[in-house]
Amino acid sequence: MMDKWFHLLQKPALWQRSHEPFWDDEHISKGMLEAHLNPDWDAASRKQSYINRSVKWLSGVIPANGKILDLGCGPGLYTKRLSGMWYDVTGVDFSKRSIAYAKSQDAKTEYIYKNYLDIEYTAMYNAVTLIYGDYAALTPDERKTLVEKVHKALKPGGLFILDVFTVKQFENKKSSTSWALCSNGGFWSAEPHICLEATYLYENNTVAVNKYVIVGKDGLKEYLIWDTAYTVQKLTEEVSPFGFTVNGVFDDVCGSPYTGEADTLCFIMEKGAE
Ligand SMILES: C[S@@+](CC[C@H](N)C(=O)[O-])C[C@H]1O[C@@H](n2cnc3c(N)ncnc32)[C@H](O)[C@@H]1O
Repeated sequence: MMDKWFHLLQKPALWQRSHEPFWDDEHISKGMLEAHLNPDWDAASRKQSYINRSVKWLSGVIPANGKILDLGCGPGLYTKRLSGMWYDVTGVDFSKRSIAYAKSQDAKTEYIYKNYLDIEYTAMYNAVTLIYGDYAALTPDERKTLVEKVHKALKPGGLFILDVFTVKQFENKKSSTSWALCSNGGFWSAEPHICLEATYLYENNTVAVNKYVIVGKDGLKEYLIWDTAYTVQKLTEEVSPFGFTVNGVFDDVCGSPYTGEADTLCFIMEKGAE
């Protein structure tokens, strides 16, 4: 019995993937949509005031009348605003609930319910955005696939704009374990459950996983959520082999000048002529 419980929270192998749907789970996606739409909460999306500043900055960076592809667009908080300007926008997300919400709010943007790693892109976009640290949640192989695909999706001279968390944000991360009793259901399930949670660190504390084991009446479900800490050098080394030139480095996706002191890091990369 003890062995079984110890086993549940064991440290997973680096980059091990869990197989339960997370963003697209029927119940979890309800809580996620609420979190995305809360204007005062940096949770699934950033606060509304940040998004407004971010879109203003992006509109100064991406050429007017350009075609934008927003990967992991969620419920369309950026896409709707950009479509309302002078852009032709496509949003991709694999949360059915978020895409349905985005469509209900915005008839101008094209919304695609798909895994962005599975799409075959052709060079038709002037800019591709990937906002709120999603790049750093991918495994190294997935990141290579993504950068290669984004390169294909861009026209020559097109821009790839993304943000990630930095080593600063990782300074306070520690290995830990905890549990919560959710007698009336909660974030992970509408049914009563126990949530076992662990944080583990790897690679000199530059990679973290949050492991959640949900114990419910129908058995166990496991979720592994990865995050990678970035520096300018690490991100540059990852994108350069795919033909991107780093054009601009900022502290955030609002264009704050790079200080090296911030929790986040934003890159503007350009696809060179072929
Ligand atoms: C942290 S949220 C950010 C949403 C949005 N970019 C924003 O800042 O408001 C990450 C989003 O990416 C989506 N996502 C994650 N991995 C994805 C994938 N491989 N394909 C499509 N969507 C993905 C999730 O469903 C979720 O909506």
